[in-house]
Formats: sequence, structure tokens, C-alpha cells
Amino acid sequence: MLKEIRKILVTSALPYANGPIHIGHLIEYIQADIWVRFQKQRGHNCHYVCADDAHGTPIMLKAQQEGITPEQLIADTWTQHNADFAEFSVSFDNFYSTHSNETRHYAELIYNRLHELGHIHSKTITQAYDPVKEMFLPDRFIKGGCPKCGATDQYGDNCEACGATYSPTDLINAVSVVSGETPIDKKSEHYFFKLSDFEVMLKEWTHSGHVQKQIANKLDEWLEAGLQDWDISRDAPYFGFEIPNAPGKFFYVWLDAPVGYMGSFKNLCDKSDLDFDEYWAKDSTTELYHFIGKDIVNFHALFWPAMLTGAGFRTPTAIFAHGFLTVNGEKMSKSRGTFIKARTYLEHLNPEYLRYYFAAKLSSQVEDIDLNFEDFSQRVNTDLVNKVVNIASRCSGFIKKRFDGKLSAQCAEPELFQSLINTNSEIAEHYESREYGKAMRTISALADKANQYIDEKQPWVLAKQEGKDEELHAICSVGINLFYVIVAYLKPVVPEMVGKAEAFLNISPLTWPDQLIPLTNHTINKFKPLMTRVEPDKLAALIEASKENLKKKPALHRTKKAKLQTTERSEMIEFDDFAKIDLRVALIEKAEHVAEADKLLRLTLSLGYETRQVLAGIKAAYAPEDLEGRLTVVVANLKPRKMRFGVSDGMVLAAGSGNEDIWILSPDSGAKPGMRIK
Ligand code: MSP
Ligand code: ZN
Repeated sequence: MLKEIRKILVTSALPYANGPIHIGHLIEYIQADIWVRFQKQRGHNCHYVCADDAHGTPIMLKAQQEGITPEQLIADTWTQHNADFAEFSVSFDNFYSTHSNETRHYAELIYNRLHELGHIHSKTITQAYDPVKEMFLPDRFIKGGCPKCGATDQYGDNCEACGATYSPTDLINAVSVVSGETPIDKKSEHYFFKLSDFEVMLKEWTHSGHVQKQIANKLDEWLEAGLQDWDISRDAPYFGFEIPNAPGKFFYVWLDAPVGYMGSFKNLCDKSDLDFDEYWAKDSTTELYHFIGKDIVNFHALFWPAMLTGAGFRTPTAIFAHGFLTVNGEKMSKSRGTFIKARTYLEHLNPEYLRYYFAAKLSSQVEDIDLNFEDFSQRVNTDLVNKVVNIASRCSGFIKKRFDGKLSAQCAEPELFQSLINTNSEIAEHYESREYGKAMRTISALADKANQYIDEKQPWVLAKQEGKDEELHAICSVGINLFYVIVAYLKPVVPEMVGKAEAFLNISPLTWPDQLIPLTNHTINKFKPLMTRVEPDKLAALIEASKENLKKKPALHRTKKAKLQTTERSEMIEFDDFAKIDLRVALIEKAEHVAEADKLLRLTLSLGYETRQVLAGIKAAYAPEDLEGRLTVVVANLKPRKMRFGVSDGMVLAAGSGNEDIWILSPDSGAKPGMRIK
């Protein structure tokens, strides 16, 4: 049967060139990479391109801060991004930069065509301006108090405390994040793209299967509210492309960013025999897919198709939007720097754990995805290591030792083998529709089937019996052959592990296993562990190493109002965090002054089962003799901390704001040292 070979171009959103790749980004690159690997494994002609998004104010300012040129910054970042992607097996056919001649060429071409056809016009607008830095300020470079709820330190366009949206000029005590100065209003001429010219086209386009249902609904809201003109210019100083015939005006980064898809592909065409027009011309019959996060849907499903249509190019076949990643239930926020870097992850754990975990949790929906570390270890250890890898390790020893590494001459269970092959179309449908979670569950069920077969046949029992060699050989060969099919299905997700499996099986690279026949009379290689279990201490070390990243970054310039005394929602913890704290009743056996320390008392605490030394900053509030013999509450599982005056092994809980205003917490009478507080 001759299969039709599809020609497919896939992109992932272009990461900004001013920061490292984090595991939130990786949801997207791994999701798209699995899809691309699947298409390639099926024999299709699939190309996957990406680039760094190199323009804009944040990149310009970051380079200034570091005392380097933007070109140097984006070159360094490119090198790091490239290395991170490679180690996570994200296999772009081209990873380029928007700061390239190709992208400039197509950005100018598109702009000029839109301009000629009357879709661009200019008007003078008023914007916040930093009089010291002499530059216009994007909203996120202005901070101040929320005009609605008073929360301080909020960005220029919305309040994270109460969710209000407003204009930066409404902020209380607004300051420029760049200089700390109060911004002034300043006028300037801007260029606008008349999106409303494409209203009819967009209404049609967004309802003909190019976007997910949930996205189409969101787009309807915007379309019904009426399409506003889109401001596509920025004034110097700006790191980007200057607009043709408009000195001192630059393309807004979001104009040339999606054009970067074209730029990267053009660069690939020039290095290969691919034809650019075949993929981008108006009458193209090839497929074009953009994988993106839900936060950038308007750029991809409104502005971009309108720009392409206006400039005489084809529009995307589909936009695949995914949700956001949270870690143990906590939101990651790029601008506040709360993320686990790809690099930090790589220093501690196998990247394929994450690929597998994301696959297990991904669907075609736009829902957010939570990375929960317990769930992560469990799924990897149970489903991948215990179930899949185990099939090979259970059978390979006997094949190697007893049968010289050679599989039996015939497959003893052709029907069982075929039943695994027959599942291929179901699994392919799941991959094709990005229902990876379903694909992983189906594959896992096949692994269960293989393990059940081995459990029933008990080769380890036969191995000890006389005259059962042939049976033992047949069973272990079946086991290896079932493993053979299963790893073929897993190849898009864990390509490194499957590469090792291919070496072990002594076979050429696995294609999609719809035509696979059992390996017979075939010599396999010595089995080496293909993947080991997630080690709890490595996972703990990763979390520890990321803690610095998980702290809030101090704002460059804070507003003058005092911080609110109430607990901010963003500072709330999960029940699981609370449950980690081991609170216990302790008897203060001894309390003594610490020489030279103004604030500290050294307490000897009895927890009943052990005695501890704790340094407590309560000297101003209590004389040592007032404390001896009292019961108090301590955090018993706090890691010992080395302080200037010795090691403190735990923490005493107290109320109050400090100095004399401190009350040691005491448990109710009747409590005994060592009792847990729940
Ligand atoms: N530069 C733009 C994209 C331009 S595309 C023409 C951009 N860059 S980004 O670095 O902020 O994000 C790159 C991609 O990663 C986006 O699709 C974004 O949605 C995604 N993610 C960034 N943080 C994420 C999570 N925490 N979770 C899931 N995806 C996330 O946007
Ligand atoms: Zn507010």
C-alpha cells in the first residue's frame, strides 16, 4: 500500500533572546517536537523551524545593563538556547534568529505590500516617556500603585492583586522602572495596521477548523468587540528593524516575530533543496502549523493571518495552542523570574523523564498543566522504568546466557505480537491529534499485556527445570519482540532511550511499526539499563537549586507606599507545604545568654525523644529564668543552621513584630514534650 507523503512545516513560538529556557517553555517545544518526530517516523516530509525572538525594548535594556551590545547578548543567548534544546532532544531542522537578513527581507516585503494596499496609516499618539533615559516606556516598564485596590508595585497595565486593568497614567506614584523617574506624557507619530480591513476574512478563517474550539470562542469575543488598529511602530531608541521610508521608526517586535518563522525557513531552504514558495505561496498545498502558548493567540490567530492575507501569502493550516505550566500548583511568571531553568533541570535529572511526563499529561486542549514532583517520579518510575524497560531486562539475561544472544527461529505468539501491531492506528490517531496522554495510556496498556504474558509463563521457573530450554527460549524471544513494538511507539517521546533500545536490539532505526514483523534468528546485544528510576535525592537537589529562582526578584524601583501587611495571595502556600512542617511541643530545659549576641538566647529544648540547642532572637522580650521549665512550640524538622554564635537546630515559634514585642507560643496544659501539633 502506497502512503501519501505529506509536506509539513511546523513551528514553535520563538523564545525571547533575553532569558534562559525554562521548563514552562519546554511544554511547547517538547509538545511540538513529539509531533514532528511522530510525523517523520511515519515517513512524512516534515520540517521543524524556530528562532530566537531577538528584538524589542527588554532585550535592548538588558544588553545595556550587562554592558554589551544587543548583538552580543542575542548571540550568547542563542548559544545557550541551542544547547538546552539539543539536550532535551528538541530537534529543530533550523534554529535561527529574527535578527537576520531573511527576516528583515520578509518583514519589509510584507509591510510594503500592506502599505501599498492602504492597510497602514499613521497617527500621533501620546505615551509615557522617561525624561531621563529619553525613551518611550512600554507598560511593563512602568510601576506604581493600583488605582483600584491600592496594591503597590504593580505593572503599568494590570494589577496582579485585584486583576484590574487600566492605563499606566492612572497608576498612583508611577515610576519608570528604568530610571526611577516619574514618566511624562509625550506625543509621537505611530504606524498602524488596519486590522478591521480583514474582519470578514478573520471571522471566516477562525471558524473553519484552523483553531481549537476554545480559542475560536475567545476570538469571537474579540471579533465582536470590534477590531482595533494595531500599533506596529516604535520610536528610537529601539533594537529592531527600521521601517522603510520612516527614519527613526522601528517595527514593533511583534510585527517581525512571526515573520521569523519565514526567515528561519528561508535560511533552511538556502541550506537545502527545499523550495520556500512551495510552503508559503498563496496557492501552497503544503501544511503549516504553529504551536503556541495560550497567551499569544491574538498575534497568531488574528494579526498574523491578516498580515499574510494582506501581503499575498498563504495562511496557517492550524494554530495549536497549549496551556501554561505550573510547578507543584504554583504559577510561573517570566517577568518576575519564577522559573526552573532548563539548564538547572539538566544538571540534576534525565531530560527524558520530563519529555515522558509532559507527554503523559498533554492533550489537544488549552488547559494548564501542573508539574507535580511526586506524580512525576511515580509516572516515570512505574510506567516507564518498571513497566517498559523491565520487559527487556526480564528476558534479555536468559537470551544472552542460555541462547548465545540469539532470538528463537520462530515467534511463538504471532497473534499476541500482531495484536500489539494492530493498535498502531489508534496510537497514531492519538499522536496526530496531540492526545499524547491517551497515546501513553494505550502504550502502557500494551506494556501491561507484555508483562502479564511473562508473569504467566514464568521463565525464571522454567530456567531451573530440565528440558525446558526450547520453551524458555520461545517465551523470552516473545518478550523481546513485544518490547520491540512498544519502544517503536514510544520513539517520538523518548528518542534517546529508544536509541539505546535500538542498539540493544541490534536493529536499524525504528520506523512506525505498522508493518513490523517479529525478529527471529536475530542476535541481540548485551542489555544495559535503558533508563533508571528517578532518584529522590536528585529531585530534591533540583528543587533546592531552583529555590533561588523561585524567589521574587526585587523590583528595580519600588513605589514609596509601605508594603501591605496582609498576606498577599501570591505568597500563599499549598497545604502540602504546610504539611511538611513538623511542629512539636518542647520543654525549655535551660535558657542562657550568648556572649556578645544582643538578641539571642541559647535554649536547650527537650523534645522527649531528644534534646536540641536552638538560638532564639528573644533576649529583649524574656529573661532566661522566665523561660526555663516552660513548654513551647518548635519547628522540629528545620535543617540545622550555622550561625555566628553556633549551630541552631530547630526554631521556636513566637508572635509579635520583634524586640520586646515577642510572645513565645505555649501549648495548652497537658501537652508533653515531643507531641506533634496538628
Ligand atoms: N517571543 C514570543 C513569541 C513570538 S512567536 C512569533 C514569546 N516568547 S516567550 O519566550 O515568552 O514564550 C515562548 C513560548 O513559550 C510561548 O508560546 C509561550 O506561551 C510559551 N511559554 C512561556 N512560558 C510558559 C509556561 N509557563 N507554560 C507554558 N508555556 C509557556 O512569547
Ligand atoms: Zn489592584
